[in-house]
Amino acid sequence: MAKFQKGFLIVANWKMNKTAKEAVDFAKELINVVDKETAVNIALCVPFTALGALAPICVGSNIALGAQNMNSEPSGAFTGEISAQMLCEFFVTYVIIGHSERRIIFYEDNALINKKVKAALNANFCPILCVGETIEERQAGKTLKIIGQQIEGGLKDLPREKIENLVIAYEPVWAIGTGKTATAQMAQEVHAAIRGMLKKQLGSIGNKIRIIYGGSMKPDNAEELLMQPDIDGGLIGGASLVLQSFVEIIELAQKVAEHNNAYY
Ligand code: PGA
Repeated sequence: MAKFQKGFLIVANWKMNKTAKEAVDFAKELINVVDKETAVNIALCVPFTALGALAPICVGSNIALGAQNMNSEPSGAFTGEISAQMLCEFFVTYVIIGHSERRIIFYEDNALINKKVKAALNANFCPILCVGETIEERQAGKTLKIIGQQIEGGLKDLPREKIENLVIAYEPVWAIGTGKTATAQMAQEVHAAIRGMLKKQLGSIGNKIRIIYGGSMKPDNAEELLMQPDIDGGLIGGASLVLQSFVEIIELAQKVAEHNNAYY
């Protein structure tokens, strides 16, 4: 299971929030308060405009930097877009790809998302591919069908030697920013199904890919979610904007990891 091999991954998704100055203040404080020995992998996926200011602060710390999107093309006439090579300059490790806000508001489909995942892996990033169903799809009993299409389409023909860098984020659309979290059981059920899909599509390497949960994860539900056998971390929006709640989630991940290590 990925969580025992690699440790938890806790990722902040700040979306369109925080100026560069606010980002710097947050990151400095975070580095100060997070236990240097923590086994939890921590990343901040920030607006492009904050990357330049954060890079010198995060390099050499145990906080990795991430972006929230990238273009699949290396360069060219794509007004307003950012390439992998541009992100490399800021020592970016993670890139969120196919977030439901990008799928719904910016009409990104599985084919485009697949190109971005490939470009991200080729640039040696860890793409965080987001998948998840809408409330209508869940109510119609189509959750696993939709996620199956997102996984199959998003992960087509990936460069095999880099697949292990991939992260999947299960984010039920109805739970994002709504305060409605999937119950731990609901999330575990989908994570286990995703694990099966990864193994079917990618072979045994599918066991090594982290599957993290996102959708109103916060200090009062993080522990129960992270205790589930197939939940390898969290992608956190609202609760990652406030230092205290983000730190609390990191500490809970550390606590669950220690419990798991003692137990197994
Ligand atoms: P939320 O956002 O934690 O505010 O629900 C999660 C996400 O969209 O990644």
